[in-house]
Formats: sequence, C-alpha cells, structure tokens
Amino acid sequence: MKKLYMDYNATTPLREEVRAAIIEDLVVYGNASSMHADGREARARVEAARGRVGELLGVPAKTIIFTSGGSESNNTVFETMRRLASDKQGMPLTKGRRGFITTAIEHPCVLNSAKYLESLGFKVTFLSVDQYGKIRMEELKRALNEETLLVSVMMANNEIGTIQDIREIAAMTKTAGAWMHTDAVQAVGKVPVTAPDLGVDYLTMSAHKIYGPKGIGALYIREKAPLFPLIHGGHQEDGMRAGTYNNIGILGFGKAAELAKQDLASYGREMGELRKRLRDGLLAATPNIKINGHPEDVLPNTLNVSFPGAEGESILLSMDLAGIEASTGSACASGSLEPSHVLIATGAGPELAHGSIRFSMGMGITQADVDYIIETVPPIISRLRSMSTVV
Ligand SMILES: Cc1ncc(COP(=O)(O)O)c(C=O)c1O
Repeated sequence: MKKLYMDYNATTPLREEVRAAIIEDLVVYGNASSMHADGREARARVEAARGRVGELLGVPAKTIIFTSGGSESNNTVFETMRRLASDKQGMPLTKGRRGFITTAIEHPCVLNSAKYLESLGFKVTFLSVDQYGKIRMEELKRALNEETLLVSVMMANNEIGTIQDIREIAAMTKTAGAWMHTDAVQAVGKVPVTAPDLGVDYLTMSAHKIYGPKGIGALYIREKAPLFPLIHGGHQEDGMRAGTYNNIGILGFGKAAELAKQDLASYGREMGELRKRLRDGLLAATPNIKINGHPEDVLPNTLNVSFPGAEGESILLSMDLAGIEASTGSACASGSLEPSHVLIATGAGPELAHGSIRFSMGMGITQADVDYIIETVPPIISRLRSMSTVV
C-alpha cells in the first residue's frame, strides 16, 4: 500500500545529509566544555553549528543559544520577562512594566506560558484574529501601553499557515518601549526569516521542523536584550542555559540550517506549486469545502481544509487506511474532542472546526502524490457525509 506522509508541520524526517553528518560526528565524544583536545574538538563543532544557525537567520553566532526545542526557547523568553517584571530594581527600560500581549492562536507552549503568568497576577492580552488568522493592527495599537513588557506573536501558524506582519508588529512594539518575541518555528526554512530585518528582540526556532533532529532548538537574542536562564547549573551557553552540550543534536541542527538556507528559494517555489495543485484539485473534486488560512500570506507547504458534514478524526482514520498521514486541527484531550482553538479564533463554527484537516507537505512530495490525495480524499468525504447525522 502507498504510504504518503503529509504531516511535515508536526515533524520532518531527517534529511539524508543530516543523518550522514550526525553519523560522522558520533565518534566525537568529548564534552564540549572540557579543556583537553577531545573537548576542544567537540566545542569547535558546536560553534561551527552555531554559526550555521546564525547564518540562516542573518545574525552573528553569539546571538544564538541552543535549547531543547521550540517549547523551551519560548518558555525561556517568558521566564526572562517574569524575572524582569519581578526585579525590584528593574532595568531602566522595563521598570514598572508587567503587561504581556500575545495572540489567541499561538502554539500551546506560548499560550500556556502566558496563562501561567496570568495566574501569577500579570496582565495578559490575547489578541483576536480575523477570518484568515491575521491579528488586527488597530487592536494591537489599543493594547500597547506604557505597562507593556512583552509582545509575543508567532510568525507563521502551525495549523493554518497564516503568516503575520512581524516587521510592522515589531516596529509598533518598539515604539511602545516593549520587548518583541516571535515564535518562528514554522516559518524558518519555509519562508525567508532574517531577524534583523524583522526587528525582533527574540526569535524561536526548532531543528525537527527543518529536517534536523528532535530535541534541539535555538533562541536568537538580539544583542543587549536581557536573558535569564530557565535551567540553572553549569556555565554552558554563557550561563544562559545549563546542561552538557547536546553535540549530536547541535551538529545535526547546524547541517539542517545550512541546507535550509541553501534550498530556501527552490523549496518555496516547489511547495507553492504543490499546494496550489492540491487546493485546486480538492476544490474541483469536493463540493462544499472551505480553505482555511490567509489566501496569500500563508506557508507554501500548508493547506488546511474544512470538510463540513464529515468529522476530522474519521477523515484522518479513513485517510490513514489509504496510506495518507495528515492531521486534524483538533486535539483529543482527556477523552473529549476539543475543536481547534485556531479555527475557533478565526470565527469558524464547531462544524468547520471539527471537520478540518491539515495537509503539510515537504521535500520529497511529488505531483503524483498530490494527485493521489485528490483521487482518494473526495470519495472518503462523500462516504462520511452520507453516514453523518450532521448534514
Ligand atoms: C509554532 C510552534 N511553536 C513551537 C513548537 C514546539 O517546538 P518543539 O517541538 O521543538 O518544542 C511547535 C511544534 O509543534 C510549533 O509548531
């Protein structure tokens, strides 16, 4: 049976070249903090990888710290802000500021960090989004004030692929004197992400979304922006993130970053063509469906479709039987099926939110693969709709 992985936003396979680089590096066992020759060799490789990750973002290596992934990078930014706000002296720029602004459609690692701060008594504003998943600049403008400490807005949404105008958001944030963070986990490697152009103070990325290994990520910290550690211990990463260097993960990340930079233009072109083919094919072959996300400012690999009258989990299972691996926008939490918080925020009713499927494509997907989906999915939808009591 054909097996077709269409869930690249959840994670990506290791690229062949990354796997080869990791295998080559497995023999380097030194602790990158040791002063002897083996340690120095390991450290040199870690620093070379840091340089490559920096190059992908257009920033110096020294502005990058390695973490265990996107979740940790995001948590580190929120913890830094909590410490700043709790600091009796306060930095001159942040004194008295205790307000946070984020959006209703962030990844749970940002949403729950923000909710945690809210539970500690900080003021948190969750910006709403329009029908395409974009925040409204007027709402941001109204929310920003002299108490705002941090604005955290994701660059690209993992479920619907909508890309925010981070440069404009950062400019407004800086005018208000607050720090600006963007979770760029889904944007990096898919669209150009140049941190200095965006004007952000902090930017989060994760290796396993760009064909690198799992359990390794990075945080970009603009020079002079404050940072407090989330993990205390030794003085790795200039004392900003303790723990023995994850050499294998870091080196794999470095290779993945190098390749992502090299392939960015061709990736964008190829994914854009596949996405258009899939979108047009599904629209032509299936009545009454809705494409979610922004029509233009959208990740080239991500197509989120609602199939009203068919239930997301049932579509997923039927597709899985036909060898197609995708995902729903909804999560199954403790036995109850929660509709996607992202689609609900765009104003989708429960039926559209429950019947949504995210196809996220990546390197190796061909036009023939897309055609297989266009042939296979419409009959699944009509069968499920005919069985459904909702229609
Ligand atoms: C937008 C976004 N942020 C953060 C994360 C978390 O990254 P990690 O899996 O490296 O912790 C993900 C992963 O799904 C994501 O899509």
